[in-house]
Amino acid sequence: MCGIIGYIGDRKASEVLINGLSHLEYRGYDSAGIALRYNDKFEIYKAQGKLINLINVIKPHQDVCLASNIGIGHIRWATHGLPTEINAHPHTCNCKSLVLVHNGIIENYQELKEELLKKGSKFLSQTDTEVAAHLIAYEYDKTKDLHLAMQNAVKKIKGAFAFCAMHKNEKDKIVIAKRNAPLVIGVGEGENFVASDIPAIIEYTKKAIYLADNQTGIVTKDSIKIYDEEGNLINNKIEHLPFEAIAISKMGYKHFMLKEIHEQGDVVRNILSSKLEGAKHQVVFDEFKLSSEKIKKITRIQIIACGTSLHAGMVGKYIIEELARIPVDVEASSEYIYRNTIADENTLVIGISQSGETADTITAIKQAKEKGSHIVIITNRADSTMARLADSLLPVSAGIEVSVAATKSYMAQLISLYLLAFYLTEQKGIVEYDSIIQNLKQELIELPNKIEMLLENTENIKNIAKKYSSYKDFIFIARGINYPSALEGALKLKEISYINATGYGAGELKHGPIAMLDENMPVLAILNTGIVYDKVLSNCEEARARQAKLIGVTNYIAQKDKDLFDDLVLIPQISDLMSPALNIVVLQLLAYYIAEYLGKDVDQPRNLAKSVTVE
Ligand code: G6P
Repeated sequence: MCGIIGYIGDRKASEVLINGLSHLEYRGYDSAGIALRYNDKFEIYKAQGKLINLINVIKPHQDVCLASNIGIGHIRWATHGLPTEINAHPHTCNCKSLVLVHNGIIENYQELKEELLKKGSKFLSQTDTEVAAHLIAYEYDKTKDLHLAMQNAVKKIKGAFAFCAMHKNEKDKIVIAKRNAPLVIGVGEGENFVASDIPAIIEYTKKAIYLADNQTGIVTKDSIKIYDEEGNLINNKIEHLPFEAIAISKMGYKHFMLKEIHEQGDVVRNILSSKLEGAKHQVVFDEFKLSSEKIKKITRIQIIACGTSLHAGMVGKYIIEELARIPVDVEASSEYIYRNTIADENTLVIGISQSGETADTITAIKQAKEKGSHIVIITNRADSTMARLADSLLPVSAGIEVSVAATKSYMAQLISLYLLAFYLTEQKGIVEYDSIIQNLKQELIELPNKIEMLLENTENIKNIAKKYSSYKDFIFIARGINYPSALEGALKLKEISYINATGYGAGELKHGPIAMLDENMPVLAILNTGIVYDKVLSNCEEARARQAKLIGVTNYIAQKDKDLFDDLVLIPQISDLMSPALNIVVLQLLAYYIAEYLGKDVDQPRNLAKSVTVE
C-alpha cells in the first residue's frame, strides 16, 4: 500500500525512480509522482492511474530528466482524498521549497492542519501527507536544518509514517523518518537509495540498512547517518539482501501470478530441504524457541491473519487439532483486536502473513504479546516488522511474490503449518500418530511432483475457465479440511476477475445460499476421498436439482457419479489431510485463466494492495 523510492548519486534519478516504482507496483496504487532536484529547485510530476501515465507526463521534460541526479518518488493508494493528480505525492509547502513523499496514515492530521492554517499554510489537496509537508517546512523555518525539522515534526505526529523529504536549501541530501511503516536504505558506492521494499533497489545494490521505528536519517551520495528518537547518532548494521534481481522478472510468463503458481513445486522442495530429511525423520525446527516441556503446557493456540493467510491458518487449525490435539482458534486479525481476547503464557499465538507488514496483524500480535503469549510468526519476509516481533520466527522463504493475489506464499504457509503440526505432535510425544505422520511426511515429499503433474496439463482447466468466464456469480463448496480451500478459491476468483464468488461449507448450502441457485449460478465442489466425500456428493446432488451448473475438483469419482457434473478436474491421488495443497493449485489456475480470458489486470487487480499497512 503506497510505495516510496528515493535516489541520490550520479545516475539519471528519473530512470531509477520510475524503475523502482515499477517494482513496487505490486503494493497496489492509484496514482504516482516524482520530484527531481533541478537548477536548485524542484520539478514535480504527477499522474492519476498507472505509472505509464506518469511516464507520459515526464516525457516532454527530457532536459530535467537528463540533468537531475537526485529525486524522490511515490505510488499512492488513496486513503485521505480521491486518487487524483492533486492528491498524488510528492507534496510541498507554500513556497515549494520542500518536497515530501509518505507511506502510512497521520492520525492527528486534522488538528495539525488547523494549527498550520492559522500560521498561514495553504493546502491544495485533501491528504494527510500535505499537512506533514507543511509541518516540516514550518519547523525548517525555525531551525534552518531539514533533519532537525524532520525530528521536531515527527514528535508532533501521531500515526504511521515512512517519510522521504528534500529541501531546496540542502542541496545533496534526502532526509528520512520511519514509524510503523517499512523503509529501507539501499547502500551503493557513490550513490544511495531509499525504498519501501527491496524489489525497488535490488537491481542496483545488495546491501541495505533497515530503519527501526522512530529513527530518522540523512542520506547523501557518500554517507548515511541514522539517529534514534533522542537524536543520538547510531550504527544500524548493513545487511546483505538474500534476493536476486531475477526474482522480480516474469521469466517468460505472461503474468507474475502464473509464474508464481508454477514455482510452487520448488517452493515446497525448498522448505522441506532444511526441515525434513525423510519420512522417517523428525521435523527440524530450530527456529521454534519453546522447549518440549513448554510445548506440553500449551493449552490453546490462536492463529491470527488476514485474507489468504487467514485461509492457510484455517487449514492449520484442522491439521494441528487432528494431530497435536491442541484446541486452535483462527481469527481475522481485524476482529481479534480491540476486544479483551483471552490469551496467557500457555497460549501459543501464531501470526501468519506473506508481507509481515499487515497493520491489523501487527496490532493483533502486539496485543497478544502483552498478555505474555509466545508469538510464532510465519512469514515470507524475514526482514519485516512482524518478523521482528516474533519470539519464534518461521520464515517460509517462498521468494518475492509480486502478483497481488497470493499463490506460492499460501502454499509455503500451508507447508509450514503441516510441519509445525508434525513438530508439535512429536514434541508432545504423541506416539500413536507416528505412522499417520510418517505417511503424511511421505506425501509432503511427493507433493512437488504432484503439483508439477497438475501444472503440466492445464488444457482442461483452461477450457473450463473459458466456458464459465461469462458468469457473474460463483459458489465454491467443500467440507472439512477443504472448506478453507473453497474460501481461498472463491477469494482468488473475486480478487482478479471481479466475479462475485463466495465459498461455503457444503453443509451450509441448504441453510440459505441454496436460495440463489439456478442455471446462472455455477457451483464448484471440492471432493476428496475421505470422511466427507459422500456428504459433499449429496450436497452436489442438491445443487444439481436446482439446475446449477456443477464443476467437480476431485481425486476420485465413481463412473455412476460422473454425469452429475458438467465439468470435472481430476487431481493426482492424495489423502484428504494433504489435499488442500493440491486442490488449491486447480483453483488458482481456474481464477487465473478466467481473469486472463476476461482481459483483467491479473497482477494488479483494482482497489487491492499487496501490503496492507493501514488498519
Ligand atoms: C491483502 C492482499 C492479500 C493478502 C492479505 C494479507 O489483502 O491483497 O493477498 O492475503 O493482504 O496479507 P499478508 O501479507 O498479511 O499475508
